[in-house]
This record gives sequence, structure tokens and C-alpha cells, in this order.
Amino acid sequence: MKVSLNDAAMLLLSGNVVSIPTETVFGLAAVYNNTSAVKKIFSLKNRPLNNPLILHIAKALDVKTFVKDVPPHFEELANAFWPGPLTLVIPVIEEKIPSIVRAGLSTQAFRVPALDVTKELIVKTGPLVAPSANLSGRPSATTVSHVEEDFGKEFPVLEGAPSEKGVESTILIYQEGAWWLGRLGAIAVESFEKVLGYLPLFKRNEASPLCPGQLFRHYAPKATLHLSKQFREGATVLGFSDRNYGGAKRVIYFGSSQNVEEVLARLYDLLRKLDEEGILEAFIDIDVPQNGLWATFHERVKKASLSHKLG
Ligand code: TXA
Ligand code: MG
Repeated sequence: MKVSLNDAAMLLLSGNVVSIPTETVFGLAAVYNNTSAVKKIFSLKNRPLNNPLILHIAKALDVKTFVKDVPPHFEELANAFWPGPLTLVIPVIEEKIPSIVRAGLSTQAFRVPALDVTKELIVKTGPLVAPSANLSGRPSATTVSHVEEDFGKEFPVLEGAPSEKGVESTILIYQEGAWWLGRLGAIAVESFEKVLGYLPLFKRNEASPLCPGQLFRHYAPKATLHLSKQFREGATVLGFSDRNYGGAKRVIYFGSSQNVEEVLARLYDLLRKLDEEGILEAFIDIDVPQNGLWATFHERVKKASLSHKLG
């Protein structure tokens, strides 16, 4: 159910959870220091308690309330990418942020979202924690309807346009004197090289990734997904509108292969559609570059194709 900015603020300040639009994906928000509201987020999403939340603040300076010092390059990263789809994870003064928000870690993830209505809301409510507004294991929500699919028509959603980016923020984590990549997202990793002087990498430890969330099962539709440069005659294909898939039974278009932003913006909507339409097998055209934002495309479709076998 769509609610106004004032109603959303009032609901949040009285301890409710409200879905909020952002430029990446919709969030499921609560006031960060209202621990019973924060608990509601975990139970609504069915989210494991060891998966910490991102704190959404109105401006970079607000981080100072929670930290002793900011790490090297923090200000440069914030200047270059905030407001925007970048999340920065840094050590904090633990007493300043409830343990449930941090999942007991001594670090906190921060982001200044770019959408005006979201920033206005945070000015009214103070910092908001918000994971993506989907049931755990479903694709993130990029429209009000997606939120209502997962949480019901009566669930309050601050009205907002479909998410412009369509995928979650890129996460950088400061550890052992350097910034590491925690999650691929709406900013291409190459963009950080100019600010940092190096390319942030994933720390090679698959068993315990820097972002606990990377470990949990990700959305996989009921359909068996084949990631391929070729497809079988008569198959359903998820592909690009500037390409020809002669012989396919049906083609669902991500958008143009020349426009990765458009493709990412539609990705989760298309993945949700596969189940809705009862599609049981599909080929995804992955004949696209590996670098830039295409890396995010490859990573998300790979996770979607891994199916429920991960457990
Ligand atoms: O674009 C986004 O980031 C969206 C919008 C709503 O802001 N939010 C989002 O939240 O994607 P969520 O909860 O779905 O993903 C947050 C990720 C998880 O993988 C979590 O493990 C990681 O951030 N994370 C949060 N706090 C962390 C911390 N202190 N250390 C390492 N990873 C952290
Ligand atoms: Mg999520």
C-alpha cells in the first residue's frame, strides 16, 4: 500500500517497518536504534541474524557520529560516489549502533542513497537500516508491486518510481589497511581505481566472504537456467533486443546488449517473471563483455542459475 512521505516518517518513528524506494532496489526500513523494529525486519524477511544491515544516512558527515576515525580514502570515496549506490563498511564505536544491526561485528555498512524522497525521509527520521525489500531467497524488489508480491498489498511502501539502477549497491570493505570488494553492484569496480590508486578485489576466502550475505542462498527461479552463448532450437531464451534468436520458441528481452544499465534495471523483474509464467527451462545469452557493469550481470545470473541445490 503506497504511503506518503509524512505517513512513512510517522510510521517509522512509531516503531514500524516501511518499505522505501532507493535508486538501487527498494529497502525494508526501520529506525536504526529501535531494536524491536529492527528485529521485525529480520522476521519479516526471514533473514538470518548473522547477516548485518546497511545504515542509510542523509549525508557523509553523519558517519562521524559512529566512528573514532574514518579510514584512508573514505572521504575521497564518499565525495566521488555519495549520494549513490556505494556501501562502505568501516570499523565503528560499537556502543553507538545496536549489535543486531551489525550482526555482532565491530564494523558497520553505510550508504547515502541518492533518491530525493529517500533522503528527505531520512532527514525526518534519522538514520535508517534497510536491507533489500524481498523475502530472503527472492530477487530484490525494484518496484512497489514487487514489494507487495512479497509482503502483501497492505504493507506500507513509500511511493517511488521503479529503481533506476535495478541492482544493489557495490560494497567496499576497509580491512588490514586496504579497501576490498564485498559485493559487485551498481558501480563498476574499475571506477574506484582513480580514487584509490588500485582496483579493490574480493578477498580469496570463499568459505567466509567479507560480506556474510554472499554466503546465503540467492534467488533461483524454478526454471533450470543454462548460461550459454548458444541455445537449443525451440527453447525459451533470455536475451538482448538487438540480437536475433531465430528458432527460439520464445524470447524475453533484457534490453539492448549495448546498454548494460538498461539490462541491469530489468534483470530482477525478468527473473521474477520466469516463475510467474511457469517457465521451466530457459537459456540466458551471456555473450557479453566480462568487465565494467557486465561483471555484475554475470554474477547475478550465475547465482540465479545455481538453483536451490546450494541449500
Ligand atoms: O543497494 C543496496 O545496498 C540495498 C538498498 C536498499 O540500499 N540494500 C541491500 O541490503 O542490498 P542487503 O541487506 O540486501 O545487503 C546488504 C549486504 C549483505 O550482503 C550483508 O552481508 C552486507 O551487506 N553487510 C552489511 N553490513 C556488513 C558488515 N558490517 N560487514 C560486511 N558485510 C556487511
Ligand atoms: Mg538483499
